[in-house]
Amino acid sequence: YPVENIRNFSIIAHVDHGKSTLADRLLEITGTIAKTAHNKQVLDKLQVERERGITVKAQSASLFYNHEGVNYLLNLIDTPGHVDFSYEVSRSLSACQGVILVVDANEGIQAQTVANFYLAFEAQLAVIPVINKIDLKHADPERVEKQIEKLFDIPIDECVRISAKQGTNVEKVLQKIIEKIPPPQCNTADPLKALVFDSTFDHYRGVIANIALFGGEIQKGHKIVSAHTKKRYEVNEVGILTPNEQPTHKLYAGQVGYVIAGMKEVTEAQIGDTLFLYKQPVEPLPGFKSAKPMVFAGMYPVDQTEYNNLKSALEKLTLNDSSVTIHRDSSLALGAGWRLGFLGLLHMEVFNQRLEQEYNMSVILTAPTVPYKAILSSAKLIKDRRAVQKDMLYIDEQRVMLKYLFPLNEIVLDFYDALKSLSSGYASFDYEDAGYQAADLIKMDILLNGNPVEELATIIHSDKAYATGKLLCERLKDAIPRQLFEIAIQAAIGKRIIARETLKAYRKNVVAKCYGGDITRRMKLLKRQAEGKKLMRKIGNVEVPRDAFIRVLKRE
Ligand code: GTP
Repeated sequence: YPVENIRNFSIIAHVDHGKSTLADRLLEITGTIAKTAHNKQVLDKLQVERERGITVKAQSASLFYNHEGVNYLLNLIDTPGHVDFSYEVSRSLSACQGVILVVDANEGIQAQTVANFYLAFEAQLAVIPVINKIDLKHADPERVEKQIEKLFDIPIDECVRISAKQGTNVEKVLQKIIEKIPPPQCNTADPLKALVFDSTFDHYRGVIANIALFGGEIQKGHKIVSAHTKKRYEVNEVGILTPNEQPTHKLYAGQVGYVIAGMKEVTEAQIGDTLFLYKQPVEPLPGFKSAKPMVFAGMYPVDQTEYNNLKSALEKLTLNDSSVTIHRDSSLALGAGWRLGFLGLLHMEVFNQRLEQEYNMSVILTAPTVPYKAILSSAKLIKDRRAVQKDMLYIDEQRVMLKYLFPLNEIVLDFYDALKSLSSGYASFDYEDAGYQAADLIKMDILLNGNPVEELATIIHSDKAYATGKLLCERLKDAIPRQLFEIAIQAAIGKRIIARETLKAYRKNVVAKCYGGDITRRMKLLKRQAEGKKLMRKIGNVEVPRDAFIRVLKRE
């Protein structure tokens, strides 16, 4: 395939607007996959993706298409749709020259339509607007076309109206790709220059790096170097994705495919890295910023004997998801574990679900937190409003786009759900990091008879301290069994107590039942009581069962 017959493109869309369905149709029309009823969401490989109906990990596929007697190679680079994964979208886009922007004909432009459009626009890609689901009864493609013209300045007559489900006009989309998206600008005669835009880990073959060739060619036996790590490798296999790996003799400039070269860890194939031939260095391609974790949570095995199994499962899973950060951590109550950083809450849930489904692990995940920078001085007394309106724009008579500055911890937990239910599902939401802001935050301790419980210390906004402190005290009171003495459960800010619950004294006399009875029975019961105590963690003189922490910390 000469470079001028190659097109590299992505499909971008708001969640559920039909990106995967359109990709399936394109794969069918071009004969990449057989046309059967079982082909739903071919690119969504993971079980969690199929179950949740969302794309988490980008997949790619090469399509072969004959248009007016000319053979074209169309490389479709899949992108995930959810807010949490916009980082994956931007890295997929760096391998493309154009995008198909899918908008639901009924819902119209939504938050991620706007966010994804700007990612493509900033990358200077050709944008083909496609209005999907025109078969729906309430479809209003005209209104959506007007929105697209108003917001993105794209003329109405450039929009393609389709039904990805029924296949209507999907062929037109292929023609537009050929007409509107420029071929990649590169030359096979140049030295090898390959962008790593994704990587996966295969148990038997090691790292499989997805690459886009911006120059030169690559084949088995080539000695290549990573611009990022300076490490040298020998190429074992190259090929294209259809969407499964299919080995080929060579990959040429302009093509998208994969390379296997004896890399043992995904960190060796850094996303955004440039590969070149040994002794033929090139100027590396501008990489992209690495994923920035926004939500942190502790992870512990439910049973400490499972620690090593969980460790190896985590290692394997993070090999496939380099956007998760991981640090060893330990807690007196929950034992040895890790502190993980995720791109967002959905990312965290998906990761957890994959641990359960693909590795059969059951874990304790502590309540998610967001990063703070603390300055230990009274200047934190600065009063900050929790949300500040920044911008407002009417998309049409029925829709308005609002921009707010929010503290991340306010949106991390349940904001998305709350927004959806408040607007009966009509509002949509997207976010980007706006940096650290000063805020009135305090550290709240939980005390048991005056002794702090380190696992339960939290950083919290001062407005919420009373309610949260009260809730934690109440939950603890329910979770801790009564003991021989009274226990004061308190929430405190510095020396100031802001909430208190009292657990009354109680003596659980295990031998009372057999008073005067048989001595061996008595010994047996005492032994059982002692064993039970091993599962307790002592805070001062108070014994707290491990599962009390789990009950208090675990997210509902
Ligand atoms: P993410 O992978 O999460 O980004 O979602 P998506 O954009 O890939 O959406 P998907 O293709 O999974 O489609 C979402 C829902 O819309 C599915 O139930 C599809 O069957 C349905 N759908 C897609 N295209 C059409 C269409 O043309 N008409 C109708 N009626 N439904 C469609």
